[in-house]
Amino acid sequence: MPVASFSLDGKVALVTGGASGIGIGIVTTLAQAGARVVIADRDDEGAQRVAASLNETGHDVACIHLDLADEASIVRACAAVVVQHGAPWILVNNAGLQDRELLLEGTAAQWDRMNAVNGRGPYLMTREVGRAMVAKGEGGRIVNIATAGLRGSVVKGLGAYAGSKGALLGLSRLSAFELAEHNITVNVVLPGAVATPGARAAKGPPPEGPARRKLPLGPICEPADIGAAVYFFATPAARYITNQLISVDAGFSVT
Ligand SMILES: NC(=O)c1ccc[n+]([C@@H]2O[C@H](COP(=O)([O-])OP(=O)(O)OC[C@H]3O[C@@H](n4cnc5c(N)ncnc54)[C@H](O)[C@@H]3O)[C@@H](O)[C@H]2O)c1
Repeated sequence: MPVASFSLDGKVALVTGGASGIGIGIVTTLAQAGARVVIADRDDEGAQRVAASLNETGHDVACIHLDLADEASIVRACAAVVVQHGAPWILVNNAGLQDRELLLEGTAAQWDRMNAVNGRGPYLMTREVGRAMVAKGEGGRIVNIATAGLRGSVVKGLGAYAGSKGALLGLSRLSAFELAEHNITVNVVLPGAVATPGARAAKGPPPEGPARRKLPLGPICEPADIGAAVYFFATPAARYITNQLISVDAGFSVT
């Protein structure tokens, strides 16, 4: 496989939630691989800060305002990206809410809020960016960020969160099937615990769970570790890999 197949030179990558935490790791990795990255986030100041610091070191990062809970905002942002940068080759559905609420105290409002951003948002992003990819006719890569909690370590209060990430897994499988005829792959990265602003600020009861075992490969993952897995799925080299899941969890699965 030529090394060129791992380059993202000339590719446009759209990353939701690129203003914070794991999103910064993904944006940085894709920009270092040569992509022009567009951060789509509701936090405009944060997005501008990340873009400015990467552009100072010679990378190519732009921003677009996006509220994933609002369909009109999604349609507007995706259309603006196509006009300003061309159809994305890569879409990373990364932005997500992580608040907790115990199941027996659960509210419809929590379920709706969580699913609007973590489930319906990626669904609508896939529709909008998918249409642009198909119109361009060069294929593409979609990477969805779920959670290793769907496979292993759980804490109390994440019922609505797990429901929304389960929806994202179902969406990934179906979009891998429907978009394959357009040479668009759809894959999933499942992060283990990463110390991000969002994880630290998550509201709700304490994240109580089974006693934490020592992770074989280290105490905790960094945003760049998640970025590396996203990058692999995003490369031209990964053209025949679709509907796959990679956990990046510092070895939790072997404990
Ligand atoms: N941090 C972890 O331990 C962990 C573990 C597993 C999975 N994840 C997943 O990784 C992803 C990123 O998490 P993080 O910890 O970096 O979170 P974070 O809160 O630090 O960053 C999330 C970003 O998404 C943006 N965002 C939130 N709602 C939005 C909306 N409605 N429209 C547009 N942008 C919005 C925020 O402004 C922020 O920039 C999430 O999907 C999360 O569920 C995180």
